Amino acid sequence: MHCTRKITDDLTWVGANDRRLAMFEGVYSVPNGVSYNAYLLCDDKTVLFDTVDKAVKQRFLENVAHALAGRPLDYLVVQHMEPDHSAALEDIVRRYPNVKVVCNAKTLAFIKQFHDFDIDAHAQVVAENDILDTGRHKLHFVMAPMVHWPEVMVTYDSTDKTLFSADAFGSFGALNGAIFADEVDFARDYMDEARRYYTNIVGKYGAQTKALLGKASALTIEMICPLHGFVWREKINDIVEKYILWSEYRPEERGVMIAYASVYGNTENAAEILACRLREKGIKTVVFDVSVTPASEIVSASFRWSHLVFASTTYNAGIFVTMEALLNDLVAHNIQNRTVALIENGSWAASSGSLMRKKLEQCKGITVLQNVVSIKSGLKADRLADIDAMAETLLSTFPAADAGTCPTAADGVDPSAMFKLSYGLFILLARDGEKDNGCIINTAAQVTDTPCKISVTVNKASYTCGMIMKTGEFNLSVLSERVPFEIFKRFGFAGGRDTDKFAGIEYDGRTANGIRYLRQYANGAISAKVEQTVDCGTHVVFIGEVTQAFILSNEPSVTYQYYFDHIKPKPPMQKEKVKGFVCKICGYVHQGDELPDDIICPICNHGASAFEPL
Ligand code: FEO
Repeated sequence: MHCTRKITDDLTWVGANDRRLAMFEGVYSVPNGVSYNAYLLCDDKTVLFDTVDKAVKQRFLENVAHALAGRPLDYLVVQHMEPDHSAALEDIVRRYPNVKVVCNAKTLAFIKQFHDFDIDAHAQVVAENDILDTGRHKLHFVMAPMVHWPEVMVTYDSTDKTLFSADAFGSFGALNGAIFADEVDFARDYMDEARRYYTNIVGKYGAQTKALLGKASALTIEMICPLHGFVWREKINDIVEKYILWSEYRPEERGVMIAYASVYGNTENAAEILACRLREKGIKTVVFDVSVTPASEIVSASFRWSHLVFASTTYNAGIFVTMEALLNDLVAHNIQNRTVALIENGSWAASSGSLMRKKLEQCKGITVLQNVVSIKSGLKADRLADIDAMAETLLSTFPAADAGTCPTAADGVDPSAMFKLSYGLFILLARDGEKDNGCIINTAAQVTDTPCKISVTVNKASYTCGMIMKTGEFNLSVLSERVPFEIFKRFGFAGGRDTDKFAGIEYDGRTANGIRYLRQYANGAISAKVEQTVDCGTHVVFIGEVTQAFILSNEPSVTYQYYFDHIKPKPPMQKEKVKGFVCKICGYVHQGDELPDDIICPICNHGASAFEPL
């Protein structure tokens, strides 16, 4: 029996979940299962985006047949050839013999490597920026090499502003009935698995992921449909922000991740004591036993935390096996930009410290602290000072605030402390004769309960301020979390003197005082008559008695912080920061102003002609 979910009126999830898989790619444990996502678009033409792993092929084929409802399948877009997304490709071609397989040249070669059917009879080869017109929808193909394989491409549906993102923005974990990230508590229950997925599967290819984010930043994206995990239609910035950090190898949190390899508990003891000393200094810590915790979780944590400590006993004159495997994994995943401290143990010839240093110094932007704590068998009282010194040295690399140090009066006023005040976001509205106007403000509060009075603060230079000065009346629309950025552009970025900010708006009404209010995107409206005006220089504070107030919805009010986190579009990737050339074949990035004539791509071995400027 089919098991599908509607994404939009004409887009259906036709993927499937697998909770029996022990090891994803044979390496990564997936205790919560994994989803293989595929999507069917039913427009004038029908389009299937990718297929699934062989383990769930039967359910997927039933899903596709059901969603097609008897229609033929016109196109299969192959965005990624890894077999967890392409195992059913041949089955689709056999069941729908007139289907066109939309792929790029690299994908076509991979299809021939993995399959034996006559793909040439079906292939429709596309390149960067090619468009497939399916009726209402226009599908734009965007190459995303090495996110995670060289043939990867993503698809942008410019009609519904949906990005079919292949492996990007995916996550481990079966979907459990939910399909949208906003149907679950993603930050609490799934972000760790999204991080573990990205860092272990795509983490090595930060530059290529960043290149894709750069391309995506030029698009208006309202929904992301990845090949694993949840579909994003709300708070898209939550996941995009993480990808920006991860792709640039920037930590998410300031704190110390301590990973130790201990045979008889003595190295563990040193790691535990260091964790306690750091906590006493106000530094966050997490501790892992590398012989117990799967490496993929520690790799993921290494991408999350700013400081890393590795503690290992010396074993066969080398690093302990599980620690050596972890460090190899981290180097392979391109970990960068971290401060690292090392603890070694050795009963007769401790060498694990220098060997760990050698491995980690291969990585870019890794600062390994000079002083290694060296233990002979067990930590003795006379060496405790070494642990304290390491804790102090680590502490010195944190900003004072992280360490809980109290600033003194001599430190003066830090203007950024003002951003710790919480603010809402509102539209302040006024009417002067036939002229309606309004502007965005972030400061409004109830002043007294009986009589009910509110205060609003508005820039003196604004047209709305002048209108309220003249008329002595205003309305306040309290914006909710559903407010789109367009409303901020309309009421915040344009002047009211020369423009009609309400032009084309069909969703506002008027209160008893005749002033407009927003019906949509606001959860409440308040009318007030000005009683007091306080001139504060650049701004005016109006205190007014409330004459009318009503609720429009129970959606939460938007805060200033929420606006920045979830609504305001992120600036385009800092393309200017990375100067260089990208290999068109595999996505390898050569950084620098000049491309050497004799360059050979270290990933795909193509020469200079395969490169183009970033
Ligand atoms: Fe789930 Fe790179 O594939």
